[in-house]
Amino acid sequence: MAAKTIFILNGPNLNLLGAREPEIYGADTLADIETACDAAAGAAGFAADFRQSNTEGTLVDWVQEANAKAAGLIINPGAYTHTSIALLDALTAANIAKIELHLSNIHAREEFRQRSVTAAAVDGVIMGFGAAGYILAVEALKSLLQKRSA
Ligand code: DQA
Repeated sequence: MAAKTIFILNGPNLNLLGAREPEIYGADTLADIETACDAAAGAAGFAADFRQSNTEGTLVDWVQEANAKAAGLIINPGAYTHTSIALLDALTAANIAKIELHLSNIHAREEFRQRSVTAAAVDGVIMGFGAAGYILAVEALKSLLQKRSA
């Protein structure tokens, strides 16, 4: 049987990881994280489709695409976390397993980052563990999907 696909979606400025505020976001590049996610997804029995965009509408399109063809999704919406009703609506319309992820602990940061408008539409949120959070999210998605199929 073909491995189930999971989408791992990354929002604006996450293409700059490694160079961007490494004291907050860590030294790993997005390519490093993609490599680690591919390995973690493979070990969990998934195929990861890993993407990044700086554009809100593209992220909305990808959430809709994930709903049509993936078993679940992990999304780090970047700054759209705090602003995007469009992403909230896209996530709400998606019936697949969904995890929101942040490298940093947004509750320990500036007040404007402490509210996620998108988190209401996902099964759970992982934050504050840096790049390791992506691996935790893959494992959490596996557990969510096992529960859904039980
Ligand atoms: C982030 C937190 C957001 O506030 C910020 O705009 C990002 C990254 C994180 O992963 O910690 O771009 O989503």
